[in-house]
Amino acid sequence: MSTRAPIIAGNWKLNNGPAATRAFFEEFLPLLPGTFPGSVAIFPPSLSLAAARDALGERTDIRLGVQNIYWEESGAFTGEISATLAADAGATIALAGHSERRHVFGETNEESARKLRVAIGKGLTGVLCVGEKLEERESGRAFEVVERQLSAVADGAQPPPPESLVVAYEPVWAIGTGRTASAADASEMHGRIRVLLEELYGSAGTRVPLLYGGSVKPGNAGELLAAGDVDGLLIGGASLDPVGFAEICSLAT
Ligand code: PGA
Repeated sequence: MSTRAPIIAGNWKLNNGPAATRAFFEEFLPLLPGTFPGSVAIFPPSLSLAAARDALGERTDIRLGVQNIYWEESGAFTGEISATLAADAGATIALAGHSERRHVFGETNEESARKLRVAIGKGLTGVLCVGEKLEERESGRAFEVVERQLSAVADGAQPPPPESLVVAYEPVWAIGTGRTASAADASEMHGRIRVLLEELYGSAGTRVPLLYGGSVKPGNAGELLAAGDVDGLLIGGASLDPVGFAEICSLAT
């Protein structure tokens, strides 16, 4: 495990409406160890943000986030939400470029990077998700793909300030498949992402937290958290279970 404070994040995807969100927090909050030294972030569906905020009350140790934003501020963009609306609804952190946005909804590197920059520009922490597909890994192009996804944040634009940036490495072949990258694979890619961040930001690049995601469960979280340059986890399926998610948080203490 690195010396940066751990971040354990739960991406609920299209799961947990307001009632299920209230039930989750009722069970989860008493289980979260009081000694947890880092931060927990939950990305519920946007429609459940208000319920999540009510359930958290005064607690500041759990951050709420949105899974996606659109870069425009307001206007005729049916179905979209903006960073400003997300912040107004209680979000302090936003995902950008999750692999499902890229591969199910066709989002490009440039679009993901633009969303990231806008989210950060509006005061949210931005989590840029990067990761290669199986055929890209098998053909030895994993690093090149991740490098392109990451360098898009500075393509013709000012890169966002490093203190508001988190990078999540989520190999597409490991998301929701039950296949996890080995701790060594995760650590190798994180080390390479760290070098890219240092190229972009100089020594400030060492402070950007790097999360691993892809089929993380209570059974493999400890090993992944112990891997070099892994500062935390972005968890999909296993974050829906309050008991298992609390167990993963306790492994990061
Ligand atoms: P998973 O999803 O943990 O269900 O593999 C991770 C993610 O998509 O963020």
